[in-house]
Amino acid sequence: MMSVEFAQSKTKENLMRAFAGESQARNRYTFAAGLARTKGLAVVERVFLFTADQERAHGKIYYDLLAQCSGENIRVDGAYPVDLYSGILEHLKAARHNELEEGEKVYPAFADMAREEGFPEVSKFFSDIAAVERVHSERFSRFAELVEQDRLFVSEGETRWMCLNCGHIVNAAIAPALCPVCKHGQGFFIRMKFIEQTGL
Ligand SMILES: [Fe+2]
Ligand SMILES: [Fe+2]
Repeated sequence: MMSVEFAQSKTKENLMRAFAGESQARNRYTFAAGLARTKGLAVVERVFLFTADQERAHGKIYYDLLAQCSGENIRVDGAYPVDLYSGILEHLKAARHNELEEGEKVYPAFADMAREEGFPEVSKFFSDIAAVERVHSERFSRFAELVEQDRLFVSEGETRWMCLNCGHIVNAAIAPALCPVCKHGQGFFIRMKFIEQTGL
């Protein structure tokens, strides 16, 4: 194992790259959430906002690890996605792809480098957050498939749906066009099992 001063390390740069990546992901998901809202898909809006908040938390963890560089500017290069689509399915697929890249390639490589350079605590953060990104990818994937198959509000058999606005629960194969309690649209309904399994 080589031992490197933090100031000269690749890990310092990787933390700044990660902070930049997380910051952009948070913004992209917030924009996608806005698009979902305009399409009446409150449930997809919620998925993006829920994930955007977690990206913000990741960004803070990486940023805080740079405390000893306070006052400095850190120059890095990087490639970042342009995901400007008019369709919500494209946004879900792009998010699935980007999360998988982070979770399976980028952060594991940053974790390896941090370990090699002698920063095991930083390495652990990269590994732990990589695992979260893989869960993000799975979540986006599940919703992308449902949208692609036009089954976001249609289940195989009878299932429990919750209105994300008022919490009313309905047993049905198809989510109601309007919530019978609060009159919000079908776009607010989410399968209960998603809430039970993932918080969404
Ligand atoms: Fe993240
Ligand atoms: Fe993520």
